[in-house]
Amino acid sequence: MKIGMIGTGWFADMHCDLLEQMEGVQVAAVCGTSQAKAEHFASQRRNAASYADVEEMLEQEKLDAVYICVPPFAHGAIERAVVARQIPFFIEKPIALDEELPAQIQHQLQQSGLITSVGYHFRYTDGAEKLLELLKGRTVGMALGTWLGDMPRVAWWRKQEGSGGQFLEQTTHIVDLLRYTLGEVTEVYAATALRHMNTIEEGVTVDDVGTVTLKLASGAVANISNTCMLPKSDRSGLQIYTDLGVLEVNHNGVTASTVGQNVTYHNQSNPYIKENEAFIHAVRTGDTQFIRSTYADAILTQRIATAALRSAQSGLPVVL
Ligand SMILES: NC(=O)c1ccc[n+]([C@@H]2O[C@H](COP(=O)([O-])OP(=O)(O)OC[C@H]3O[C@@H](n4cnc5c(N)ncnc54)[C@H](O)[C@@H]3O)[C@@H](O)[C@H]2O)c1
Repeated sequence: MKIGMIGTGWFADMHCDLLEQMEGVQVAAVCGTSQAKAEHFASQRRNAASYADVEEMLEQEKLDAVYICVPPFAHGAIERAVVARQIPFFIEKPIALDEELPAQIQHQLQQSGLITSVGYHFRYTDGAEKLLELLKGRTVGMALGTWLGDMPRVAWWRKQEGSGGQFLEQTTHIVDLLRYTLGEVTEVYAATALRHMNTIEEGVTVDDVGTVTLKLASGAVANISNTCMLPKSDRSGLQIYTDLGVLEVNHNGVTASTVGQNVTYHNQSNPYIKENEAFIHAVRTGDTQFIRSTYADAILTQRIATAALRSAQSGLPVVL
């Protein structure tokens, strides 16, 4: 299988490393923002051709699938070009800065039935799998989610028009995990502020603290809070408060706590391997059952982040 990689950054590299370990899979072409960057990236990949233009790569190469690993601001023309040529694609989260662009892409996709997969990797963790099992038969009252850490230093991340801010860019993983395990969100209310990062770094326009209250269709309530003003990463994850005790899922696994008992189920497998294998299997065979996040589903996660942004701006709750 011939894969085209769009983006030459950190996560394009991570996906290439995993793809190259798969039987019969080759990263055949790479597209970056300049020929020099693409060539440098491609030089580490055996026989990969390099391009500075997505249309040109898609015209010249016969690709079985494309990976889109670019920052939030760079979405749009890439997806349109890929969908127009009916090439299945894996796309890193978040899928855009807003919700209008994904709606347009989805309209284009609906007519094609193209295979898509989105990099919401928490869904592929052993912890999320175990959590779904542990939730059976419980009454969920409330969930508290967090993404508390430092600010990624890549230039685009600090700009609101580059990343969309922490809740949309990073905390989206927790929002998606909330949806995946507890169901849909019906209303959000957000308060955010820029307290510190603009005083120590140039050009920071994203808020560095925020808290979002969410109502769920099930009747449960949730809060997801984030900060990127810490000197080092603190914690991220989701705590779920139920009639049978607390379930806490994070990067390490899931812990179930009740009176006198704490049981931790540690993650054993690599979720990134699982999400890549699920996508490649789907493209190879047409069997999409192992893909846990499609483009259509990711739109629903994206809507929550954009609603939170609107709520923070207006000071009012937003009904979804
Ligand atoms: N799922 C995860 O755990 C996870 C982890 C890290 C990053 N990501 C996501 O992956 C995406 C990329 O992040 P990153 O860390 O690789 O960023 P990065 O800054 O390291 O790399 C971004 C790359 O995109 C390229 N790019 C920008 N516009 C382009 C265009 N129009 N055409 C081709 N290339 C273009 C840049 O040249 C750069 O190589 C982000 O959306 C991020 O949220 C996901």
